[in-house]
Amino acid sequence: MIKKDYPLTEKTPEEENEIISLRPKRLSEYIGQDRIVETLKIAIEAALKRKEPLEHILFNGPPGLGKTTLAHIIANEMGTRIITSSGPALEKGGDLLGLLTHMERGDIFFIDEIHRIPKVVEEFLYPAMEDFAVDFIFDKGVHARTHRYRLEQFTLIGATTRAGLLSSPLRERFGITRDLDFYNEKDLAKIIKRSAMIIKTQIDEGGAFEIAKRARGTPRVANRLLKRVRDYAQVKADGVITKEVAVDALTLEGIDDFGLGDMDRKLLETIIVNYKGGPVGIEALSATLQLETDVLIEVIEPYLLKTGFIIRTSQGRKATEKAYKHLHINIRQKEQETLF
Ligand code: ADE
Repeated sequence: MIKKDYPLTEKTPEEENEIISLRPKRLSEYIGQDRIVETLKIAIEAALKRKEPLEHILFNGPPGLGKTTLAHIIANEMGTRIITSSGPALEKGGDLLGLLTHMERGDIFFIDEIHRIPKVVEEFLYPAMEDFAVDFIFDKGVHARTHRYRLEQFTLIGATTRAGLLSSPLRERFGITRDLDFYNEKDLAKIIKRSAMIIKTQIDEGGAFEIAKRARGTPRVANRLLKRVRDYAQVKADGVITKEVAVDALTLEGIDDFGLGDMDRKLLETIIVNYKGGPVGIEALSATLQLETDVLIEVIEPYLLKTGFIIRTSQGRKATEKAYKHLHINIRQKEQETLF
């Protein structure tokens, strides 16, 4: 069976609840993504001054970086409701129309995984976003009539891990488009200390930085690791998270000092051992690893690309020297194999 989830970044239902409690509620509490936060502050203040709804916003980037959190914060800052849905949940035009026709002026309509929205549904979105109207079609053939139904002026916030898959008409209808990037260690350590305070756990500077170093640049991962380390600290130490406690707990979790987990290492090893370091096509990798191509592209690869363990070429993915070193595989071995 092909695995759909990926243990490091996928949300479990229990986590969803805990994440909500750790989530910042206001822009002033939000750590990192400084330029995006500044843009949003200005856009929100201007919209409030003009007493107008915000423009439509598109957030793009790997999972766990705060796209959903930002949408909720924007609704809080604007003092509006937020209605949430997702691309795969909007199966039929009717699903979307039902939501749109109940919007009140200023409401935020959040669509997660907007790149997965079916084409027929997407076409209803164009006039909804541009003219705040939807066109109903009655009857068929020569008797077909359309009726334009006016909507309240709402703000669509779309989140995607694959902006490149959005059609250009949809992409062009967003007034603000921003790419969220991985967080640096300093910001992640701040997030970890803030979360530790909320879950009433003592952590020192060394402990926070150790978790930050291994969190794949991702707040969701950081918060997840924090909870694993908290358990470990309570059982194996005196409850305080220090650097040593974090190192021991995360080594036990199979997370190495670059933040790579079993699946990351398996991917690097597959490229190096099974495909002689690459280049290897994504489909072949996905089949060998028994993982969905989308999971590889959207969840696993971005961090490995960012940290330089792999590169993408027109022929496929290649492991870098850094990957060989990390897995303690001699790069010369590969050259000899190719020679003979
Ligand atoms: N928790 C998760 N992401 C966060 C962020 N960017 N700032 C503060 N707390 C967070």
